[in-house]
Amino acid sequence: MRREAKNAADSGFSNTFAGKELNFTSMILPIVAYGDPVLRTVAADITPDYPGLTKLIEDMWETMYASNGVGLAAPQINRNIRLFVIDSEQIFNNQDDEDKGMYPDEPGHRLVFINAHIVALDGKEWPYNEGCLSIPKIREDVMRPSQVTIAWVDENFTPHTASFNGITGRIIQHEYDHIEGKLFIDYLKPLKRKLLKGKLDDITKGKIKVDYKMAFPR
Ligand code: NI
Repeated sequence: MRREAKNAADSGFSNTFAGKELNFTSMILPIVAYGDPVLRTVAADITPDYPGLTKLIEDMWETMYASNGVGLAAPQINRNIRLFVIDSEQIFNNQDDEDKGMYPDEPGHRLVFINAHIVALDGKEWPYNEGCLSIPKIREDVMRPSQVTIAWVDENFTPHTASFNGITGRIIQHEYDHIEGKLFIDYLKPLKRKLLKGKLDDITKGKIKVDYKMAFPR
């Protein structure tokens, strides 16, 4: 999921993102664009001996920050596995004073989710204007339940079960959809979807200007 850029200077690349030092051996991976079948596949669980997992997670952090993402799922970097990373702390760090206290999950979370499975979705549905790194320059309001309860293992394969709400719960649901082969545009009404068809086709063909590295299906 991508956050909204506040101004031009906000969309640039630097060696530190939101004050977090990154490992110098990590690299930016191309983000798979809408239309690639990998985004429509249900991803598989992995085991701790998955080759190069530590480096892969580092690369996903770097790729996510370089594209102003607040979440990134493995299918978006062409890996059909149940792995995603989220950093909602960035949202709160970039918030205007007047928006403080808007979400119950302040100051956010920075987490790695491996082999995640949703246990329950609860609470009132609420709209949020979502964007996706695989679907650049399209943002639409999506209704989702306010709370997600999820079971997963972290980067050390330590198991967790926890509930998240606010912006963190929103990002987790968006990224979780990616490992289930779903996209936020699937929630739009048929008419809205029809109106976006031309834009979506252009993304698939690479007929779009993006300020981060992408891989187009054709
Ligand atoms: Ni996305």
